[in-house]
Amino acid sequence: MSNDSFRALVVEEDGNGRSVVLREVRVAELPPGEVLVRVAYSTLNYKDGLAVTGKGKILRTNPMAPGIDFAGTVVESASPAYHPGDKVVLTGWGVGERHWGGFSQMNRVKAEWLIPLPPGLSLQQAMAIGTAGFTAMLCVQALERHGLALTEREVVVTGAAGGVGSVAVALLARAGYQVVASTGRPAEADYLRGLGATAVIDRTFFTNPGRPLESERWAAAIDTVGGPTLAGIFRSVAYHGVVAACGNAGGAEFTAPVFPFILRGVRLIGVESVLVPPDERRAAWARIARDLPGELIDRMTEVIPLAAVPAYSETITNAQVRGRIVVDVNA
Ligand SMILES: NC(=O)c1ccc[n+]([C@@H]2O[C@H](COP(=O)([O-])OP(=O)(O)OC[C@H]3O[C@@H](n4cnc5c(N)ncnc54)[C@H](OP(=O)(O)O)[C@@H]3O)[C@@H](O)[C@H]2O)c1
Repeated sequence: MSNDSFRALVVEEDGNGRSVVLREVRVAELPPGEVLVRVAYSTLNYKDGLAVTGKGKILRTNPMAPGIDFAGTVVESASPAYHPGDKVVLTGWGVGERHWGGFSQMNRVKAEWLIPLPPGLSLQQAMAIGTAGFTAMLCVQALERHGLALTEREVVVTGAAGGVGSVAVALLARAGYQVVASTGRPAEADYLRGLGATAVIDRTFFTNPGRPLESERWAAAIDTVGGPTLAGIFRSVAYHGVVAACGNAGGAEFTAPVFPFILRGVRLIGVESVLVPPDERRAAWARIARDLPGELIDRMTEVIPLAAVPAYSETITNAQVRGRIVVDVNA
């Protein structure tokens, strides 16, 4: 990296097709914005996997560096909110979709999209949490806002061995809930128990045929999978229980009987992480930094170089990544 150029993973589409290449980019090519950031780490989220492989229509600009989040150090700032040397974190706001993303050694963004690195976290740990972990915390907060309190009943997390799922299991367990991890990978049972799950169930529990109402089991659920899995969860949610839905790794549509809603008062809450207002962002990050020990964050994290992103993008879209993948953009 020189003063006026840096390396980025760039997706380009032209008349000859689509290419994903590591190449030099000039600082002058970055989009306008108030704050220039030297990126230290990004992460690989499911959405990034779709963007890099082209399996989903995520990228809205061409050419484009994917990467929906990053953490780094301010180099220049036209905003009074940030100064050179400040450590910052960004998730969402369309970065890595409509705006130049985090798979890049430099980026230039709006000041209001950034938050200061939460005290107690390193840049690498902030990205180990990343969009996935931030979303997991938003789900926990949504459940609590809609009545979840400490209870003997279990809380289930689907897609538990994935990024959002892993952090959700750890956050719920640290908060004192009985967490059941639902996974399609029985080999990850010890990993999930290590994050705090009290039980591990096979994901087919939710997709096997069943009655519209089964006996009450879940006080609440965090669903990262969608589709038939989400539909199956409602059968066993207890009276006045609540389900936070944030993902579609297993399907974008679901059809479910209305009985859990009209006979048990079950609630379904949607969670999105892209346009969360700044105050809520800071509050969620502060709680993550307070509640999640660094040792637990490190346990669910693998660090890869920028050049490995295309291969890992295949892996994550095939549901074979465990926990969180941090991208060291300078490695
Ligand atoms: N709403 C938001 O703002 C927001 C933010 C972040 C992520 N998301 C969404 O949340 C989901 C999870 O993201 P992530 O980054 O955690 O992805 P991830 O690491 O790939 O985790 C997804 C997990 O879902 C499970 N899964 C995958 N395909 C499945 C299938 N066909 N049937 C059943 N289970 C399946 C797997 O868990 P097991 O192997 O344990 O079964 C997989 O590890 C994605 O849909 C993502 O787009 C939404």
